[in-house]
Amino acid sequence: MQNTRTLTPDITWVGGSDRRLALFENLFPLPDGITYNAYLIRDEKTALLDTVDNAISRQFIENLLYALDGRALDYLVINHMEPDHCANIVEIRRLFPDVTLVGNAKTLQLLGQFYGMDTDAQQGTLTVKEGDTLSLGKHTLQFLMAPMVHWPEVMFTYEVSEGLLFSADAFGTFGDFDGSLFSDEMAYEQRMMQEARRYYGNIVGKYGPQVQAVLRKVAPLTVNMICPLHGPVLRGADIALMLDKYQKWSTYTPEDQGVLIAYGSMYGNTENAANILAGLLSQKGVRDVRVYDVSKTHYATIVAEGFRLSHWMFAAPTYNMGLFGAMHTLLHDMQALNMQNRHVSIIGNGSWAPASHTIMQQMTGEMKGMQAVGDPLLLKTSVTEADMAQLGALADAIVASLTSQ
Ligand code: FEO
Repeated sequence: MQNTRTLTPDITWVGGSDRRLALFENLFPLPDGITYNAYLIRDEKTALLDTVDNAISRQFIENLLYALDGRALDYLVINHMEPDHCANIVEIRRLFPDVTLVGNAKTLQLLGQFYGMDTDAQQGTLTVKEGDTLSLGKHTLQFLMAPMVHWPEVMFTYEVSEGLLFSADAFGTFGDFDGSLFSDEMAYEQRMMQEARRYYGNIVGKYGPQVQAVLRKVAPLTVNMICPLHGPVLRGADIALMLDKYQKWSTYTPEDQGVLIAYGSMYGNTENAANILAGLLSQKGVRDVRVYDVSKTHYATIVAEGFRLSHWMFAAPTYNMGLFGAMHTLLHDMQALNMQNRHVSIIGNGSWAPASHTIMQQMTGEMKGMQAVGDPLLLKTSVTEADMAQLGALADAIVASLTSQ
């Protein structure tokens, strides 16, 4: 049975939820599932904006056929060619042989690569570029290129008459919205922001300059709804809220002054130092301290906290003459995401040939805009009284840095 929602009298959500998938992109945990959004506009012409993942194809096709109410589909606008959104293109063409596929040159190239479609022949395709428009009747679609937000072919589609921005992956979230399609049907910030941040940081986080470029294109537009491909449709005050978050995230500006402590520990000694430091910071009045065990908490969650907080503390033992593997994975991912502009402190540990502290210094030093706070502390197995004095000095240095911001 269909399960659709009305955005405006002519525009319908025809997407669905997936709570079965364990790992998005086979990488990122989905404890609360995910939605794949697609939207249908009915006018003199009909236009579908994106399809969905294979996992929910049946629900999607039922929704689409119901919303079309017997009409044919004239256009399929492909804002993003990643398979979580384009998996049903072949089926759409089978159902509607006369449909025109709308995308940019890169979209059509990827259509050929993914599905073997002969888009060189230009049959049944419409190639658009920056600023092009497509009239459906009283609705007009305008295309804004958004390369690398999150793949090179990504584009936004702005519906001019009603002010709806179809934003591909941008402004999306992990997590199902539990029936509340619109952000103002829930306490959006409390309910979704952590998942929006985890989504942004891990999926789009590397591409801050490209996000900045598209934010500049969006700024002059009147936007009444932002319609992403995942998560709630943004309305009202949540539009400004998310634009502000995207401004911060894409410029690698911390949201909050606080301390992320990420530690690795084999037998509890490095963990002990991390806990002592966290306690000292709290006693010195720091109210936003988050402590994560890198072996327990998925790096995607720690990355999201890294985007939020101003100060990072990494603590890890030496392992195989190098850096403890789970910490290496985290720092490598932070490097790959181009994360930058933070204050960093280091605690290493090594019982006979310590190396972790220098490797963590090197890896964080290779990231842009990192400022070292305090002297790196090297533990030789367990925390000693002398180490306690150094942990106190490190806490003082972090507090001084926080208060100077
Ligand atoms: Fe939701 Fe880049 O795919």
